[in-house]
Amino acid sequence: MNRLALLLAAILLAGCGDANRAPVGTQGDAARGRIALAQYGCRACHMIPGVTGSKVYVGRPLEEMAKRPLIAGNLPNNQANLVRWIRNPQAIDPRTAMPVLGVSERDALDMSAYLLSH
Ligand code: HEC
Repeated sequence: MNRLALLLAAILLAGCGDANRAPVGTQGDAARGRIALAQYGCRACHMIPGVTGSKVYVGRPLEEMAKRPLIAGNLPNNQANLVRWIRNPQAIDPRTAMPVLGVSERDALDMSAYLLSH
């Protein structure tokens, strides 16, 4: 019986590969991040996998973020920089159209955890 439960757990985990795609050492709560991405209205400008909304292309779709070498074309892509960008894009690129949305440190960390795993 226990073996069957383990087997089922293994199959279920294998089926939800999303969380496994985040780079090793990624911090934050991706599930909470998904909710935060919706609450802060990021979806008004970005299409985000798993966050519903209409087709928009103001900013690029935020998919496969973990595979990108750069954030917004100039910042090395890692979780710390992603958090920095989400919290204050204007500090990194004063001419960017992305507004400062008042995202808290924790919310930005959780958002980055979600984005890096989708
Ligand atoms: C008013 C529109 C707008 C909103 C709202 C917005 N963004 Fe952006 N975002 C942009 C634009 C425009 C860019 C492209 C910036 C650039 O390349 O200079 C961008 C770039 C980004 C990037 C870098 C993407 C890349 O391709 O490198 C990330 C990550 C990002 N935004 C996350 C967020 C998150 C998270 C939120 C919500 C907290 C958000 N954005 C809200 C307009 C927006």
